[in-house]
Amino acid sequence: MNIKLIYGSDTGKTEYVVDQYFIPGLEEIGDLEYKNVNDLTEEDWGESDLFVLGIPTWYDGELQSDWEDYFETFKEIDFSGKSVAVFGLGDQIGYDEWFCDGVGILAEVVLENGGHVFGYTKKDESYDFDTTPKSLVNEDTFYGLCLDEDTQDELTKDRVSKWIDSVKKEIDSLDNEVEAFLNAPENNTLGSKIDTLAGLTYDKDNDFMKFQKKQNDFQWIDEEQSEYDSFSNGETNNESDGEDSNEY
Ligand SMILES: Cc1cc2nc3c(=O)[nH]c(=O)nc-3n(C[C@H](O)[C@H](O)[C@H](O)COP(=O)(O)O)c2cc1C
Repeated sequence: MNIKLIYGSDTGKTEYVVDQYFIPGLEEIGDLEYKNVNDLTEEDWGESDLFVLGIPTWYDGELQSDWEDYFETFKEIDFSGKSVAVFGLGDQIGYDEWFCDGVGILAEVVLENGGHVFGYTKKDESYDFDTTPKSLVNEDTFYGLCLDEDTQDELTKDRVSKWIDSVKKEIDSLDNEVEAFLNAPENNTLGSKIDTLAGLTYDKDNDFMKFQKKQNDFQWIDEEQSEYDSFSNGETNNESDGEDSNEY
């Protein structure tokens, strides 16, 4: 699995947890490339199995300064078919009303622009605030992982390691579902004539699938021939005649 970790940091705390915990942890589950948001180019949003975004929140719910500078560009990114997980740093005691707002702000853009957000976490009893910052999807679920190096640094290592494990499990389980869907879309019982799963669309009437989530070795159905072609690394490899496989 290729992973791209993108982060910003004003006073070095996010950078510290990236160096200490995220880089070693993510390297265990895939091939990792990491970048400060300052150094991003358009190509960085190309093929990658997982994007991990790291953002501290500043000044009563503002994005960290480099993310702030990048935000207009970020809002224009087409995230369809992309898998993203977000973590943030904040201070739940000093800034409880805006605790890790940046996590929710980035995740909302990804979702609005068609992406899949992995790694929601529970606001369990280890957190100690009663407000409803933007990092929360609902009263007890965060859009990602919220870390607090200011008041709970002793919990960071464990939180990061559990989160990375859970993101990996979630991706594996979705991949299995997608594979099952691709192998037998007719078994998918969503009840409508168009089924969608993880960026895959299956149109029962027209018997074709629109492939947006590019994964290795998944199969897809050729629109005209209804034959199975193999799909690997974004290249179609038509096993029938090689002439008329369809790119969507
Ligand atoms: C002036 C100031 C404003 C802050 N505003 C917030 C905030 O609105 N929400 C939050 O969760 N944390 C807030 N924090 C806490 C920072 O997010 C936290 O210290 C974080 O670890 C900084 O990460 P960095 O060093 O990577 O920039 C603030 C800290 C300061 C000093």
